Amino acid sequence: MALSGSGLFTPAQSITNEELVASFNEFVRRHNAAHAQAIETGTMQPLSPSSTEFVMKASGIGNRYVLDKAGILDPDIMCPRLPERGNDQISILAEMAVAAARDALKAADRKPDDIDGVLVAASNMQRAYPAMAIEVQEALGIEGFAFDMNVACSSATFGLQAAADMVAAGNARAILVCNPEVCSGHLNFRDRDSHFIFGDVATAFVVERADKTDGANAWEIISTKLKTKFSNNIRNNFGFLNRTAPEGIGKPDKLFVQEGRKVFKEVVPMVAEMLVAHLAENGVAASDLKRLWLHQANINMNDLIARKVLGRDPMPGEAPNILAEYANTSSAGSVIAFHKYSEDLKAGDTGLLCSFGAGYSAGSVILKKLH
Ligand code: COA
Repeated sequence: MALSGSGLFTPAQSITNEELVASFNEFVRRHNAAHAQAIETGTMQPLSPSSTEFVMKASGIGNRYVLDKAGILDPDIMCPRLPERGNDQISILAEMAVAAARDALKAADRKPDDIDGVLVAASNMQRAYPAMAIEVQEALGIEGFAFDMNVACSSATFGLQAAADMVAAGNARAILVCNPEVCSGHLNFRDRDSHFIFGDVATAFVVERADKTDGANAWEIISTKLKTKFSNNIRNNFGFLNRTAPEGIGKPDKLFVQEGRKVFKEVVPMVAEMLVAHLAENGVAASDLKRLWLHQANINMNDLIARKVLGRDPMPGEAPNILAEYANTSSAGSVIAFHKYSEDLKAGDTGLLCSFGAGYSAGSVILKKLH
């Protein structure tokens, strides 16, 4: 099996840390001024400001692309404003996925006629049904089947394994996997601990038989390994049953919430052990790895994981990070790193694609460059 081409859609608008922190701090100033009396009498704690120094140091994030900058930065709104579209118009998620998919099809030198299945594998679906994947399939004119899947930040690697298995079983000649992520839609921009974390983007890639690939940057899928372990430390309680408990509607737990410290402590060893074991099972030595395309959530986490896998500090460019420009883009992060930093490698070179996130979930994919 092979990952025969990848694609990327990057929104036109972006927000720097300086802009985001200025908006957050204005919200804090207004909030504290409005509650000055309660704060004075000690019945309410004042909100604390955010800082660009903290954001960069704690996460490595310097900027994020978004679909709607104005709504996010307005201290009265602090949420993207994405007007509803009629049912006769393509949905936002499908539109982003299609843009990335066209890029991926071109890279794989494939036409819609060559594809038998579409997966939209992402952290958040825009609606319950019909599946976003079927809308993407329709927009691209692909025959066959399509379905959505959600494994949070690990959706892309889980989608890759699902696609490779279906192609290997003979159920499809080629599968298009799309990862549209409108992370700004589930991010609480009023939460100091996490307001800086996410950005919006879409990635896509084609999976097909290795002996059938024409893509200039095609990679053989040597092996995939997936793991899940239940945890409440990254959670979002938004869902279709919310209306049955109106007292909870609009509460912070209906957006992304996490125990960042716990996630850091628990996920780093889980992922590092999994990657080391996966490489050993496949007879791949750390010294054979030309590149690590790690999940992009936090620079310090990535540096630690890379160090544990390689047994030394990664050299510049060996474990590329796109956090400074894109922030955490959930399932799309490691695919962006792959998309931007894989073409320069040579036929026969080996690399490791890895995701981790809510669930907990983790995915490891060993790739070898075909041509
Ligand atoms: N600006 C300034 N200071 C802030 C701040 C902000 N926006 N947010 C928190 N702080 C402060 C805290 O109040 C705390 O202060 P204290 O030491 O006086 O109590 C201090 O900074 C440290 O906070 P903490 O939350 O422990 O920071 P951290 O170093 O753990 O970094 C994360 C926070 C979220 C960046 C980090 O934990 C992380 O990335 N974890 C993994 C998350 C992850 O990968 N999630 C996956 C999502 S898919």
